[in-house]
Amino acid sequence: MKVITAIKDMHAEILKQKGLGKTIGFVPTMGFLHEGHLTLLKQARKENDIVVLSIFVNPLQFGPNEDFSTYPRDFERDLALAEAEKVDYVFYPSVEEMYPHKPSVKAVVQERTDVLCGESRPGHFDGVATVLTKLFNIMTPTRAYFGKKDAQQVAVIHGLIADFNFPIELIAVDIVREADGLAKSSRNVNLLPVERQQAAVLYRSLQKAKTAIDLGERNPESLINMIKEMISSESTGQIDYVETLSYPQLKPLEKLESTIIIALAVNFSKVRLIDNFIIQID
Ligand code: PAF
Repeated sequence: MKVITAIKDMHAEILKQKGLGKTIGFVPTMGFLHEGHLTLLKQARKENDIVVLSIFVNPLQFGPNEDFSTYPRDFERDLALAEAEKVDYVFYPSVEEMYPHKPSVKAVVQERTDVLCGESRPGHFDGVATVLTKLFNIMTPTRAYFGKKDAQQVAVIHGLIADFNFPIELIAVDIVREADGLAKSSRNVNLLPVERQQAAVLYRSLQKAKTAIDLGERNPESLINMIKEMISSESTGQIDYVETLSYPQLKPLEKLESTIIIALAVNFSKVRLIDNFIIQID
């Protein structure tokens, strides 16, 4: 496994591999790898000749009051995990390498951002789209892997790849959960012990909503209120949003039908958690 910090070296390696006819599976991350990331790496390993992992905490996608400086980082541990997953290249650029000056051009995401995390994180998806545009140009991957936990991010990247004609196959991989249902996230380590126990209510509330749908509930408001009540009564978390939308279009719904996403975000004392279920309604 090679660790590369310079863009020109990374690009040269990719060109060399592509010259040999190799397929490239790319897993972009902000590091502090957890099982969710490892699932992406495993799938990339199965489907490609070469696997590239990038580790870069992208300042552009954090708002001024967000957790850029406290975002968990542990490069040595990440390297050991990457090695165990038989990653070929780890791209680990500095902020100066990726952004030697204030970007003179950035990607602006115009759709699917006025809902869910987009509403409370203005500019977040522009930052994600900008860094991915750079990373996609550096890696020119055959396939790029993302977790469905960030379902809005997956929908936005779908638009980025289609609109900018990146010849990349987007692979969205299922959410990996802890034993009590909490979706795995690098941020979970920032939960206080009591919050960690409470946080499983996010998953339980989504399960309860799914059961209600299975029993015939089609009213978005009733479902949203049910989830909000459950989270408020069983945790100290402050609800940022609970929404039901069409997926992947992310449009509001008057009635639950076809493919929908139920998504939520909850603020705990030092960390904001998100989760979702994507449900096909017959
Ligand atoms: O999902 C993430 O970790 C980040 O948003 C990504 C896709 C690596 C871009 O910085």
